[in-house]
Amino acid sequence: LAARLGKRPIVLVGMMGAGKTTVGRRLAAKLGRRFLDSDDEIETAAGMTIEEFFAAHGEPEFRAGEARVIARLLKEDNIVLATGGGAFVNPETRALINANAVSVWIKAEFELLFSRVSRRSNRPLLKTANPRDTLKKLIEARYPVYSEAHLTVVSTDVPQDTVANEVIDAVA
Ligand code: S3P
Repeated sequence: LAARLGKRPIVLVGMMGAGKTTVGRRLAAKLGRRFLDSDDEIETAAGMTIEEFFAAHGEPEFRAGEARVIARLLKEDNIVLATGGGAFVNPETRALINANAVSVWIKAEFELLFSRVSRRSNRPLLKTANPRDTLKKLIEARYPVYSEAHLTVVSTDVPQDTVANEVIDAVA
């Protein structure tokens, strides 16, 4: 059951390609909240793209920065926060999000995620010999973790505006 919403942050979690950023922007506009994106915050703070950050500093440093950024953003009222797909996997970040926000898993099936992430090659974790296989394994490993979100909204290939409305129904 969702924690009472009030002015608490709404935090979107889930796989890359699920539409967290697009849905989050719509949601924020509809609810009159500020929209924040943890990947954008990291890019601004570091002065480089996520890809560049991974190349320059590696994943462990990215994860540490991601955890710090999210802890800071969770202090804001009335926000919608889209998180990078790996953020909720960190147990401390997950606990912090669930204690201070209403978390929503934007859940989408494999083919939809894969077609979306294939349109842009900006995900360092998928720069492998077999990105289909890598994405499948990430999904398998992460679904049990995402299911710890307070709420789940399934995103199919419908307009993201529709998904945003479903999130509103879910958090209401
Ligand atoms: C990641 C997802 C990305 C970004 C980074 C790592 C992940 O964010 O944080 O490439 O571990 O799933 P999106 O979920 O917004 O693509």
